[in-house]
Amino acid sequence: MKVTLSVIKADIGGWVGHCSMHPDLIAEGQESLAKAKKSGLLIDYHVTRCGDDLQFIMTHKYGVDNKRVHKMAWDTFLRCTAIAKKLKLHGAGQDLLTDAFSGNVKGQGPGVAEMVLEEREAEPVVIFMADKTASGAWNLPLYSIFCDPFNTIGLVISTNMHKGFKFEVLDVKESKKVMFNCPEDMYDMLVFIGAPSRYSVKTVYSRETGEIAASSSTQKLSLLAGRYVGKDDPVCIVRAQGIFPAVGEVLEPFARPHIVEGWMRGSHHGPLMPVAVHQSTPTRFDGPPRVIAAGFQLAHGKLVGPVDMFDDLAFNNARQQALDMADMLRRHGPFEPHRLPLDEMEYTTMPQIMKKLKSKFEKI
Ligand code: F6R
Ligand code: MG
Ligand code: MG
Repeated sequence: MKVTLSVIKADIGGWVGHCSMHPDLIAEGQESLAKAKKSGLLIDYHVTRCGDDLQFIMTHKYGVDNKRVHKMAWDTFLRCTAIAKKLKLHGAGQDLLTDAFSGNVKGQGPGVAEMVLEEREAEPVVIFMADKTASGAWNLPLYSIFCDPFNTIGLVISTNMHKGFKFEVLDVKESKKVMFNCPEDMYDMLVFIGAPSRYSVKTVYSRETGEIAASSSTQKLSLLAGRYVGKDDPVCIVRAQGIFPAVGEVLEPFARPHIVEGWMRGSHHGPLMPVAVHQSTPTRFDGPPRVIAAGFQLAHGKLVGPVDMFDDLAFNNARQQALDMADMLRRHGPFEPHRLPLDEMEYTTMPQIMKKLKSKFEKI
């Protein structure tokens, strides 16, 4: 059976500030998606939040970029925004960049990761959702999961993964894409994906069968809006087991926290800390950035789950490491490398300050 898995998310109002989501918004999301399920548009759904981002995880039969599914998500975000405005939540409607729906939520603010898959006899999927970081944050973990034998032993000892994986990489500034066959193109690929502010891994495919293995959201809010409106807070879908890495191999990169851009005012580098859903409330200096993972078994499109995958004490050391990294970076205050380099600050409010000070400069 062919199933479409769509994850659509938006920050449409924070409670308190930018750290969490008011339960009334989650309730509205649930009610709206329940109606869509009843009407036959959705097979199943799960509504959750990561920090201040509202997450719709949905299954249906209509393929990626489906106008009806996207419109239903957009209209739900609008209704949630109305509640956010009534409660005077912070940044109500922040990620909805346009007034009217144009057929697809892509380019309108919300983040989207989707895939059509032929459901296997058992179909485990993990949905990663992040807050206080940018698209491109998945580059390092996706590389680890699908290319690195030190992370994924299956690449070495499983016959059906030995051929490797194919990566689709986007140049988000030039709107171009490029394909890499790994392992042979790994060094070439790293030239690009090692610069996650410009290049994002969009899709990964098995080279054994050609089937889709992973899909991530690559929308860049700052490029869409031409100004700083908040961070992308991306999502990523990864299939597991069989011809794909095992669930444990999919989660393993997050046991070694890496540094991403985001955090306070979207202008800093900080560690991506793996947490349970109830811990995804970034309050310290509006961070540090968080990642949650919801695991499901698909059964004829039904989302059997979620299991809160990082709600495991085996990730306690990763959390401690992330907190230690956070302390080390915070010590730099307004200095790089905690603060982003100047070209990355282009879409923050800092250029306005620099403009104001321009006349103070004298030629030497
Ligand atoms: C980061 C983020 C926050 C805000 C900060 C200022 O992605 O959302 O760090 O940038 O709290 O928020 P405003 O400008 O809404 O007062
Ligand atoms: Mg926010
Ligand atoms: Mg957010």
